[in-house]
Amino acid sequence: MSSGGRPALAHSAESVAYSRIRELAEEAMSMDGVLRLYFGESDIPTPAFIKDAAARALADGFTFYSQNAGLPSLRAALAALYERLHGVELDPAGEIVITASGTEAIHLAVRCMIDPGDEALILTPAWPNGSAIVALANGVPREIAQPLVGDRYTIDFQALEAALTPRTRLLAYTSPSNPLGWVATEDDQERLLELCRAHGLWLLADEVYERLWYGRSPGEPAPSILRKATRDDRVTVVQSFSKAYSMTGWRIGWLVARRDLGVKAAQLNEYVVSHAASFTQKAAETALSAGEPWLQEMVETLRDRRDLCLDALRSMSRVVVPVPDGAFYLFPRIEGMRDSFAFCRRLLHEQRVGIAPGVAFGAGGEGSVRLCYAAERATLEAALERLDAFLRAG
Ligand SMILES: Cc1ncc(COP(=O)(O)O)c(C=O)c1O
Repeated sequence: MSSGGRPALAHSAESVAYSRIRELAEEAMSMDGVLRLYFGESDIPTPAFIKDAAARALADGFTFYSQNAGLPSLRAALAALYERLHGVELDPAGEIVITASGTEAIHLAVRCMIDPGDEALILTPAWPNGSAIVALANGVPREIAQPLVGDRYTIDFQALEAALTPRTRLLAYTSPSNPLGWVATEDDQERLLELCRAHGLWLLADEVYERLWYGRSPGEPAPSILRKATRDDRVTVVQSFSKAYSMTGWRIGWLVARRDLGVKAAQLNEYVVSHAASFTQKAAETALSAGEPWLQEMVETLRDRRDLCLDALRSMSRVVVPVPDGAFYLFPRIEGMRDSFAFCRRLLHEQRVGIAPGVAFGAGGEGSVRLCYAAERATLEAALERLDAFLRAG
């Protein structure tokens, strides 16, 4: 509805399309007997020791406002974690901001980087929220597809250079990637950093799947960009407790940033949610201090499930599936499939299997589908059998 020729809703809001993962999932949720692999969430519940810590924090009175940047004790624990995992020194007073989710961390970072009309280069296929958040800030997302070369996704540095304009302010990538499972190599990280240095861009690394890495021993993190960056680099890292500790519903994450952005993001937090819930922050401290053995076990479980799915997909005709090194997704390419949304919809109705269409993940996503393998083995086995039958039926 418009008044005086002006649309009722802001252009920035209108420009954000409905998530195509959601579109399919909403349809699936009205159906019975669906094997649900469309969302990026594990079926493993938050461990009891974290839930108990939240209950204790409530009893102990963590029910009041906290600092905009989050509880100093949690920031100190995160600084210690970076020291231990990556040998990186961070100042909890200015370089770490606790946020009410990884999603909120992206919002705060983008707000600090993008003015209306500024452009952001975003490596895709990617979780669609990055592009949407840039658009909501009245910025212009420019999606740059990661090509599949042989059986590995890569970065098209030529395409990145070609997409630069005087308005480009930000380059965003996700490693380990949702939906690709791709993990940036050290060489990738160095080249991304160099490109940002050369053109005065912010580099936003979404590392929410950092702990779900199958590179070395379970629980060892995928190398963070912070190992390469100096304190003066325009670098921010988005992080979350959602994936590593099965805490999706808790809404807690953090942002690591160069001091100027970190201080500003903490200040802006006042106008978004003020701070993440205080008792949740205390529970997050316990996740960090006591979560390692649990986390390692989860990564082993996920690796088994990944391998189970890889074996099954590899035996199917028309399917090409790169081996993912991290996160909990497979992104098989289906030969001959031109419309991934229509494909997933038919699969849903004919076989009651819910997966996400590749088109939902932006440039480069069409032609593939995303399957989240963080579900029970029995669910995965049944879903893969049905997918096989569906493909055979043509
Ligand atoms: C790549 C990526 N970044 C960030 C998030 C946000 O996580 P949360 O908002 O639950 O912390 C997700 C969730 O799916 C994700 O896949």
